[in-house]
Amino acid sequence: MSDLFARRLLVVTGKGGVGKSTVAAALATVAGSRGRRVLICELSARERMPALFGTRPSGAEVGLITPRISSVHVRPNEAMREYALMVLKFRAIYSAVFENRMVRYFLRAVPSLSEIVMLGKVCWHALQDDRFDLVVLDAPATGHALSLLSTPSTILELVNEGPLARDMRAMQALLEDARRSAVSLVALPEEMPVNEAVDLAAQLRKVVRMARGPDFLNAFFPSRFSEAAISSLKKDQDPNLEIAARAARAYEDRAALSAFYLEKMRTELGRPPICVPHLFSESFGALQVAQLAEVLDREIPA
Ligand SMILES: Nc1ncnc2c1ncn2[C@@H]1O[C@H](COP(=O)(O)OP(=O)(O)OP(=O)(O)O)[C@@H](O)[C@H]1O
Ligand SMILES: [Mg+2]
Repeated sequence: MSDLFARRLLVVTGKGGVGKSTVAAALATVAGSRGRRVLICELSARERMPALFGTRPSGAEVGLITPRISSVHVRPNEAMREYALMVLKFRAIYSAVFENRMVRYFLRAVPSLSEIVMLGKVCWHALQDDRFDLVVLDAPATGHALSLLSTPSTILELVNEGPLARDMRAMQALLEDARRSAVSLVALPEEMPVNEAVDLAAQLRKVVRMARGPDFLNAFFPSRFSEAAISSLKKDQDPNLEIAARAARAYEDRAALSAFYLEKMRTELGRPPICVPHLFSESFGALQVAQLAEVLDREIPA
């Protein structure tokens, strides 16, 4: 795979709750440490980056996390306003158009309008915003991500001319250009998340035609204790060691599941994912993101 971080746009998606935001934050950290100026675009309802980096919420304005990493929380209403202002140029026209009751009613009836403006904003940062080299998109979960990423082709089936079609063509060209963008899938070592990632990979191939970045198997349990080591603990009559032996056995059961789903992803996606270790910690913040970034830095070729 050519240099992942030399691209303009990196999309991270997968089933809900699998660690998309966490992996996006760790990827941004690695890209930042390799000299890229990175913007993380969050599209979920709740902003995650402040907690993950231990910073203040950036909200709808771009906020600095570190000198090389910024983030922005893309929300439909603000994105719509910005997009309209960009196209319509003048605030007065914006008010006349968007604050008109009939127009508002019509806009609500257009199904993918919020997706158009949200993806539009992300692509604008990737294509035209000189402050950044790379946009990492912490995308919505599977089905939503698919409909978001197929917005340009859906709209282009309906509209062929005018500023909207022009923007959609530029967005589609960006998504379909393997040198400029890629999409990475995240899964957990569990049945549903892995199945969803495999289905999504097939859908992406068919519908969106984006290049694929590395996939991630998050919260992975690497094997740590040999059978012999566990048995030797059990042989001892010390009850504390007996508890330790049981804990080690339970850990190894999780590790066996991790190995099983690693193999499943490898065979069904045609290449091995990058394993992101499960971290045992009560809270998840800057320290944990930095730990995962170290792992990714070793796994992702420069
Ligand atoms: N490698 C890991 N080790 C331990 N816990 C993790 C790991 N990765 C993520 N988590 C925890 O799993 C939870 C979900 O992570 P995260 O918010 O990144 O998922 P998500 O896919 O972005 O979720 P959503 O679909 O809600 O946006 C969080 O509480 C996070 O701290
Ligand atoms: Mg998230």
